Amino acid sequence: MHSATLLLALGSGLLASAWPLPTTFPLEDGFPNPTPDQLAQIEQQAFGTLSNSTPPANITSDSLDSFRLIAFNEIFETLFFDQLLRNMTDGIDGYEIPDDWDSEFLIRQINATVAQEQLHALTANGALQHFGADPIQPCTKYNFPVSSLYEAIDFAATFTSVVLGTLQDVIVTFAQTPEQAGFTGAIASVIGQEGEQEGWYRVLLGKIPNELPFLTRSTRELAFSILQNFVDPASCPNIGDIQLKTLTPLTLLNPPNATDSTIYLSVATTNLNSTAPLNAVYINQQNVPVVVPTTNSTQDDQTVFAAEFPYVAHELNGLTLILLTDSEGPFASAEDATAASNIGPAIAIIN
Ligand SMILES: *[C@@H]1O[C@H](CO)[C@@H](O)[C@H](O)[C@H]1NC(C)=O
Ligand SMILES: *[C@@H]1O[C@H](CO)[C@@H](O)[C@H](O)[C@H]1NC(C)=O
Ligand SMILES: *[C@@H]1O[C@H](CO)[C@@H](O)[C@H](O)[C@H]1NC(C)=O
Ligand SMILES: *[C@@H]1O[C@H](CO)[C@@H](O)[C@H](O)[C@H]1NC(C)=O
Ligand SMILES: *[C@@H]1O[C@H](CO)[C@@H](O)[C@H](O)[C@H]1NC(C)=O
Ligand SMILES: *[C@@H]1O[C@H](CO)[C@@H](O)[C@H](O)[C@H]1NC(C)=O
Repeated sequence: MHSATLLLALGSGLLASAWPLPTTFPLEDGFPNPTPDQLAQIEQQAFGTLSNSTPPANITSDSLDSFRLIAFNEIFETLFFDQLLRNMTDGIDGYEIPDDWDSEFLIRQINATVAQEQLHALTANGALQHFGADPIQPCTKYNFPVSSLYEAIDFAATFTSVVLGTLQDVIVTFAQTPEQAGFTGAIASVIGQEGEQEGWYRVLLGKIPNELPFLTRSTRELAFSILQNFVDPASCPNIGDIQLKTLTPLTLLNPPNATDSTIYLSVATTNLNSTAPLNAVYINQQNVPVVVPTTNSTQDDQTVFAAEFPYVAHELNGLTLILLTDSEGPFASAEDATAASNIGPAIAIIN
């Protein structure tokens, strides 16, 4: 399946389909509450340790939400890579490693990733606990829209690129208050770490590892909205602690290519509150969001919006986050576009 095709699963009724069996916690290695011995094992597998430096003096309540989102996301990633490792090593249909991929190497890499994502999650939950907030608990129902090794690597490359954009938002909010600015270095270290993974997944997909000169910016709200397509929120014990807006799902019907074209985006008509004309917003690289008008038509219970995708004028390579808004902009930043939008994001990745 082509990366773009896979993303049609976003917001397109996954929640209505049958859920896999619930995941039970703790995992075999004790996650998310390992004993000291189990933690030492995880650190061995991760090739490194949790930080032992002194945390910053204080934190804003908004930045506690950043740690909650990071924990929610890193737990999701832990579960994903843990399942992927099992699928590969248990010989699940579709997970045979192609001859031109080095299987021992790939298993070694994913095995390290499982433990490294656990340490990322434990760090975020540890910060929450340090400041007297409840840690984020794992959901029990995750539904990853993949059933082959190629799809799994493609999905990993996609959510990792969203994470790389979102941690930019997190680092900016941490930097705005001096008492917590000490967290910025640790976040930067994770951005690099996830970037190393991203480059590797892209190479497996036949792409060059270095996607763009400046990776696309995302926001915490957009990441939180995307993640909720892949969990049953009712199975997440304290998802309500994450005080970030969730946008209405948007489905991209025809993923764009490296050329100017018209794209079609669909929304469940019942989720449209008003008949005001909507514009499409494209967030790409470090540029101000591009805003274009849409036309619309109704198909069954969906409203389909058509919008020009001006690939050539803006070199819209790599990750593009697509929103719908009744505002005409212009928007100074991804944050401004997010604040003005209630629908999205759909995701396109070109090259
Ligand atoms: C993962 O790493 C751990 C620690 O090095 C090792 O014990 C385990 O066998 C590895 N698992 C796989 C599937 O390679
Ligand atoms: C930490 O910040 C909160 C609000 O941002 C404030 O109420 C509290 O007094 C601060 N605590 C310390 C120890 O500075
Ligand atoms: C593992 O394989 C099962 C069965 O094909 C599939 O439903 C699931 O999405 C796969 N998970 C991952 C992470 O590849
Ligand atoms: C991009 O190319 C694919 C494969 O040829 C096609 O299915 C898709 O509709 C194209 N996208 C657009 C926006 O034309
Ligand atoms: C749909 O298109 C009509 C014009 O054909 C326009 O009046 C209306 O505002 C549009 N609705 C949305 C939600 O964009
Ligand atoms: C519709 O209105 C509700 C309640 O005001 C709001 O939460 C939701 O985001 C709106 N949906 C859209 C697509 O604007």
